[in-house]
Amino acid sequence: MKKLLSILGAVGIVASSASTVVACGPKVKEIPFDKYNYGKDLGLITDTGKINDKSFNQSGFEAGNDFVKALDSKNGEITKIEPETLSDIKTSYSKIIKNNGVNTLILPGFQHQDYISTASKIMGAHRSAVFLDGDTNGTSNVIGLKYKADISGFYAGIASIIEYFQLNKSDTIVKLATFGGIANPVAVTSYMTGFMASIDGFNELMKNDTFKRTFFGSQIKALGEDGEVSYKAERTGTQSSNPSSDTDAS
Ligand SMILES: *[C@@H]1O[C@H](CO)[C@@H](O)[C@H](O)[C@H]1NC(C)=O
Ligand SMILES: *[C@@H]1O[C@H](CO)[C@@H](O)[C@H](O)[C@H]1NC(C)=O
Ligand SMILES: *[C@@H]1O[C@H](CO)[C@@H](O)[C@H](O)[C@H]1NC(C)=O
Ligand SMILES: *[C@@H]1O[C@H](CO)[C@@H](O)[C@H](O)[C@H]1NC(C)=O
Repeated sequence: MKKLLSILGAVGIVASSASTVVACGPKVKEIPFDKYNYGKDLGLITDTGKINDKSFNQSGFEAGNDFVKALDSKNGEITKIEPETLSDIKTSYSKIIKNNGVNTLILPGFQHQDYISTASKIMGAHRSAVFLDGDTNGTSNVIGLKYKADISGFYAGIASIIEYFQLNKSDTIVKLATFGGIANPVAVTSYMTGFMASIDGFNELMKNDTFKRTFFGSQIKALGEDGEVSYKAERTGTQSSNPSSDTDAS
C-alpha cells in the first residue's frame, strides 16, 4: 500500500479528489432530526442489480445500513427494492415511498438517470435522494455523485503492476489487458482509459533510476544485475479478435 501511494504521489494524483459532489441545488426543506426515523425511512432501489453484486448496488446498501446503525445500533437493515427490469425501476420510486414510507432514497447506478426527474417529482419537497454515478438533472431534492472513473482505473492499473512484480520476482515485464461490457464514456470507457494510462505512467517512472531503485532495489540485487534490470509494462489484447468499433457489442 505504501508503495502504491508513493507511486501515485509521484504522478501527482491526490486521492481525495477521486469523487466529487456534483451539485446540490436549492436547499430541500429539512425534516427536524427528532421527527425523523432514519432506520425506517431510508431505502435503496438498485438499478436492476442485487445488493450482493460487489458493486455500487451492494456498497450503497451497506453504507445505508452502516449509517442507520451508527445512529442507533438497534436499527435493522434499510428497506430495499431490487427491480428486475429497467421499467420496474420507474415504478419503484412511488412503491418505496407509499408502501415503505421511505423519505431518503439511495439510488445506486447510472441506469436511474433516465428516471431521475420522475423520481424527483414523486419525492416532492420533503424527501430527498442520493444518486450514485449520475447527474441531478437540475432537480433540487437529488444529490448526484459522479466518480472520476479514469483515476480509479489508473489506481487499479498501477496496483496490478506492483502486485505482479511482487508475486513474480523473476519477471521484468508485465502485460495488462482490460475488458469493458459496454461503451460508456462516463464510466466504462473512462475507467479503461485510466487503466491503460497506468502502463505509460509506470514506464515513465521507471526511467528515473533513483525511483526504480527505491522500488525494486532488493529485487534488482536478487536478479544479480545491479542497475541493468528494466521493468516494463505492456498492453495486450483481451480477445483473439478485438471489437471492430465502439458499437461492436459482440
Ligand atoms: C448494479 O447491478 C447491475 C446488474 O448487475 C449492473 O448492471 C449495474 O452496473 C450495477 N450498478 C452499479 C452502479 O455498478
Ligand atoms: C439529464 O441530464 C443528462 C446529462 O446532463 C442528459 O443527457 C439527459 O438528457 C437529462 N435527462 C432528463 C430526463 O432530463
Ligand atoms: C515468472 O516469470 C517468469 C519469466 O517470465 C516465467 O517463466 C514464470 O513462469 C513466472 N512464474 C509464475 C509463477 O508466474
Ligand atoms: C526521481 O525519483 C526520485 C525518488 O522518488 C525523486 O526524488 C526525483 O525527483 C526524481 N527525479 C526526476 C527527474 O523526476
